[in-house]
Amino acid sequence: ASTAATSVSISGDISSQLHGGYCHPLARSWQAERQLTKSMLIYPLFISDQADEETLIPSLPNQHRRGLNKISAHLEPLVRKGLRSVILFGVPIAPNVKNALGTAADDPSGPVIKTIRLIRARFPSLFIVADVCLCEYTSHGHCGILRDDGSLNNQSSVDRISDVAIAYAEAGAHCVAPSDMNDGRIRAIKLKLIEAGIAHKTVLMSYSAKFSGCLYGPFRDAAGSCPSFGDRKCYQLPPGGRGLARRAISRDIQEGADIIMVKPASSYLDIISDAKDIGRDMPVAAYQVSGEFAMIHAGAKAGVFDLKTMAFESTEGILRAGATIVVSYFTPNFLDWLSS
Ligand code: PBG
Ligand code: ZN
Repeated sequence: ASTAATSVSISGDISSQLHGGYCHPLARSWQAERQLTKSMLIYPLFISDQADEETLIPSLPNQHRRGLNKISAHLEPLVRKGLRSVILFGVPIAPNVKNALGTAADDPSGPVIKTIRLIRARFPSLFIVADVCLCEYTSHGHCGILRDDGSLNNQSSVDRISDVAIAYAEAGAHCVAPSDMNDGRIRAIKLKLIEAGIAHKTVLMSYSAKFSGCLYGPFRDAAGSCPSFGDRKCYQLPPGGRGLARRAISRDIQEGADIIMVKPASSYLDIISDAKDIGRDMPVAAYQVSGEFAMIHAGAKAGVFDLKTMAFESTEGILRAGATIVVSYFTPNFLDWLSS
């Protein structure tokens, strides 16, 4: 006797059957447009002017402020595990080094320029990004030069910040990344790079959509860059300002940015998506900032979630929104996690 083939009846359309597409770990990974890879990650380093310093930053879990003499030993195992890029932040600790003009920012014997030279010599495969700002170096802690009334003098700030950018690029930084948010600094930096004959070998990454908020606290502890009065709300963007962010991104692309950045990341995924849309022809970076990193650590410590799972989930969300580069304090962890 022959048995008739079993016929299955499906309620609804056949396209309702999705489980098959993600039933296996590999098939699940294929569902993402972009996989997290080591080469997407940029690791922030805080470089102290005290050559032998190595201090844990309490509000930024597992992160240190390090002097020049501690950099190589720190980077060596990370480079071995596949670290491709770092972003440098200078931290002047010595007394009386800060002033109204942020003179120490481009001091050739200062920590950033010395570290650029050291890394170029010791780790030639590392891509060096130099954050460009004055807030770590000004006596008042603001991201530029101030008028008597305490507001930013945009023109003198741009003149000064573009000089600092050129100094970092000439010292050997592969990329300069102005985080100050003064108007017109991308154009000024690009013009000076051209004038200096190094525009063809320097990437200009703009912190285009950098929002003002409460997520930079641990960074300011680490870098000692908290403003001594007022806040940054008249130059960093207001959290609700999506249209303003779109205009800032378009403006910076027009002015010659090679990469645009959105910061912070997880509360601004719509802005990352806008950046990818407006800047569809260029790489888009997102900075998962100190407060986001500390929050994930605090959540994990409180038993809300597993640290590694949340680090991946938050970063995959940032990639899904449109980022192709992620500045992350989790980079050392990812170098381990992506190897196993
Ligand atoms: C300096 C700068 C800041 C960050 C990057 N560059 C601090 C600020 O604007 O106050 C924040 C990074 C972080 O919180 O991890 N302009
Ligand atoms: Zn600043």
